[in-house]
Amino acid sequence: MSQGRFITFEGGEGSGKSTQIKKLSDFLKNLEQDVIMTREPGGSHGAEELRKLLVEGEPGRWDGVTEALLHFAARRDHVERTIHPALSRGVWVLCDRFVDSTVAYQGYGHGLSRDVIEALREIAIGDFWPDLTLILDVPVELGLNRAASRNTGGDRYERMDRDFHQRLRDGFLAIAAEQPNRCALINAERDIETVSRDITSVVTERLSFALS
Ligand code: TMP
Repeated sequence: MSQGRFITFEGGEGSGKSTQIKKLSDFLKNLEQDVIMTREPGGSHGAEELRKLLVEGEPGRWDGVTEALLHFAARRDHVERTIHPALSRGVWVLCDRFVDSTVAYQGYGHGLSRDVIEALREIAIGDFWPDLTLILDVPVELGLNRAASRNTGGDRYERMDRDFHQRLRDGFLAIAAEQPNRCALINAERDIETVSRDITSVVTERLSFALS
């Protein structure tokens, strides 16, 4: 059996990742592929427990290093117990956030150095990368308005200030520019169907060998 493919979705608050993951999952299932949808922080029993520590409570609850350690602890559990086993069964894994979120949020957002993030990444998951990363880009105001309209109060990260969210967006744009072979930048300001068509065409172009 051939190895499954690992696709990650990245972007700031309100970029529409969950809607688009669901649509890509439906598209792949129509092509008779096995698919799982998962998320970070979370995606395994232990990582979902850690998620509560990360998304609840005051915005300043953790310092940058502690927060990155918690994200990488959750990520290791998720990779070991959910992602690797699924890929080895030939399943497509669609994941809402992965390492690029740590670079954007803890790095660009909170000022944690790239060297520290790289060192933790190496310890936690070694040289394991997505086959494709879709970076959904929306202007900060639009994203925050969308996020505010779907829930009350917001999680810890949604309550960070506007400058923080601008740094996040700049971070994701920088990642997309640095690693064009792995990443595709998607203009997610447009309507759901247009964004979804863009995503399916990127997946079909870049991973066509896995769809036959
Ligand atoms: P979600 O809102 O997309 O479910 O993600 C939960 C929050 O966790 C989101 O605000 C971004 C944040 N986060 C980080 O700060 N670093 C990370 O490495 C990950 C995966 C998420």
